[in-house]
Amino acid sequence: MKKRFSARICALLILLASLSCAACSNAPADGADQSLTPATAGDPSSSVLVVYFSWSSEGNTEQMANYIAGQTGAYVVEIIPEDPYDGSYNDVAYGRAQEEAEANARPAVSQETYDLINMDDYDTVLIGFPIWWHTAPMIIGTFLEHYDWTADDNIYPFFQGASNSNQEYYNNSMSFVRSSAEGATVHDGLYAAESNTSAIDAYLSENGLLTAGE
Ligand SMILES: Cc1cc2nc3c(=O)[nH]c(=O)nc-3n(C[C@H](O)[C@H](O)[C@H](O)COP(=O)(O)O)c2cc1C
Repeated sequence: MKKRFSARICALLILLASLSCAACSNAPADGADQSLTPATAGDPSSSVLVVYFSWSSEGNTEQMANYIAGQTGAYVVEIIPEDPYDGSYNDVAYGRAQEEAEANARPAVSQETYDLINMDDYDTVLIGFPIWWHTAPMIIGTFLEHYDWTADDNIYPFFQGASNSNQEYYNNSMSFVRSSAEGATVHDGLYAAESNTSAIDAYLSENGLLTAGE
């Protein structure tokens, strides 16, 4: 799939990105101190797995992942790139991330990430990411394509971005996950800010994933 970005869409992205990063645009190295060790939480023996990629210093997807784990009793593993996205927001957004999106690239996931997950143990996988260039970061494709999925594997995408109400971003992200996780049962996704816990709870409840308080 080749992506083309019209000048209008690029202008919108620049606006959104500058709005979302107004506070961090002066920060010289958002993401420069990315750990090479994937963060984990929860109990690996749970039947529910939460995996996520998160890059900004706010760790918005990470916050969402940890909240979801608390509500579902899931085991949580962070997806770490083999080659970290070091540099400022502008360096990453208008450099490597843009190039990867335009090339439909598959940046490598660290072996440490894969080593933490025995996918056969999980029939429910929630996969989280920030919107990057109107869709999922390409590394989400790498991760999903690493596994052989069957219809018994239930995948629930969750994502957030500078905008959390853009139908095109939702559609793009869902198509990307569906094509990358061929064979799996990919459910409708959750597209909401990490702070929107009522939307997160409603989504988990609708999908029978909410275990907290039971
Ligand atoms: C490379 C890059 C591209 C982005 N593209 C978009 C976009 O197309 N639409 C959008 O709403 N937000 C976009 N954003 C903003 C992020 O989705 C937003 O800041 C998100 O909250 C970051 O989540 P994180 O803290 O988990 O990394 C982009 C950010 C980056 C770094």
